Amino acid sequence: MKINDNFEKLPESYLFSEVARRLAEYRGGHPEADVIRMDIGDVTLPIAPCVTEAMHRAVDEVGTAVGFHGYGPEQGYGFLREAIAEEDYKKRGIDIGADEIFISDGAKSDLGNLGDIFSQDSIIAVADPGYPVYVDTTVMAGRGGERDASGKWSKIVYLECNAANGFRPEVPTEHADVVILCSPSNPTGTVLSREELEKWVEYAIREKAIIIYDSAYEAYVRTPGIPRSIYEIDGARNVAVEVRSFSKTAGFTGLRCGYTVVPASLMATDGKGSDVSLRKLWNRRQSTKFNGASYIVQRGAEALYTPEGQESIRNNTDYYLENAKIIRDSMKKAGFTVFGGSDSPYVWIKGRNGEDSWSLFKEMLEKYHISCTPGSGFGAEGEGYIRLTGFNSRENTLKAMSRLK
Ligand code: MLT
Repeated sequence: MKINDNFEKLPESYLFSEVARRLAEYRGGHPEADVIRMDIGDVTLPIAPCVTEAMHRAVDEVGTAVGFHGYGPEQGYGFLREAIAEEDYKKRGIDIGADEIFISDGAKSDLGNLGDIFSQDSIIAVADPGYPVYVDTTVMAGRGGERDASGKWSKIVYLECNAANGFRPEVPTEHADVVILCSPSNPTGTVLSREELEKWVEYAIREKAIIIYDSAYEAYVRTPGIPRSIYEIDGARNVAVEVRSFSKTAGFTGLRCGYTVVPASLMATDGKGSDVSLRKLWNRRQSTKFNGASYIVQRGAEALYTPEGQESIRNNTDYYLENAKIIRDSMKKAGFTVFGGSDSPYVWIKGRNGEDSWSLFKEMLEKYHISCTPGSGFGAEGEGYIRLTGFNSRENTLKAMSRLK
């Protein structure tokens, strides 16, 4: 048996595993250090009572003969798909139906799995810096090519984001078959405007490309006029898949639940040049490789669409946004150049003295006992930056920032 050689091309470990390893090593040698974690985007606020109550009810239900649930629909239960279609789309004037929504165990899985339905020779475009799952799963699937000294892959189209373009990916001159966009961006916290998204939809139509729109952080948008869904843009139904998560808004990082929208009108071509429905392929993929998210968790997610649930999402995101503002203001005061952190829980920070990202990581850890994520882990263009998250408690956020004074 031979392995998939593409795995050997990848760096030894996934970014957040490497951060955790270095952090554990430091803590091992310095057990007295009160390290505050502002690295991985894991949330700290508890699950809302309406969600835990709904899950308790579901637990009791499955313990009865009539209420027992075995395998559920691979696409997710109708009650949750309908609630999402109604509350996240129809009420916002967006034409998405329940049968276009696929419930998952989280955005990360779907973002990695969508590649299953694209042809092997597809050219993938990603923002650099970007969420590492996009590049790592592209490489695992054999679509990366070779890695150069700066860490860039020969077959990937990089949408370079930097201080000059405000860390917003711009439409490239090259062709790509699949474009992965994330707004508000992980890791830079910047957002794409309506005009920018219109250009991306035009590009996708022109190039016969598909956009994978990662909108895991859409609930953080507060600036009026900034789209929260790609389907707010005319024509997007024909070119875009949208991936969402309950993790960062409702504390589901451990419960695991998200969803992906694949519109019925989204077509791509097969090897013979005929049109094929991507929804049909995704359905085939999911029903073969996935048995659905758990009934109990889906009942919990459904409760997020009650008035109490919506209020808890608003309260959680307001809380993390306030943390992000505290971080942004404190880092600015300390003399750093800062991006993001206003429509996003992420604050993207440039080193003051031109240090590389891992040196900044070390300095933050050893000098201030703050664990951050090195920007270079998100791509070559992230070198020299770090990312801090607003997901810790208010108390810890204030404590961490006071150490920088
Ligand atoms: C991050 O820190 O970038 C995210 O938490 C990772 C994730 O959502 O998987």
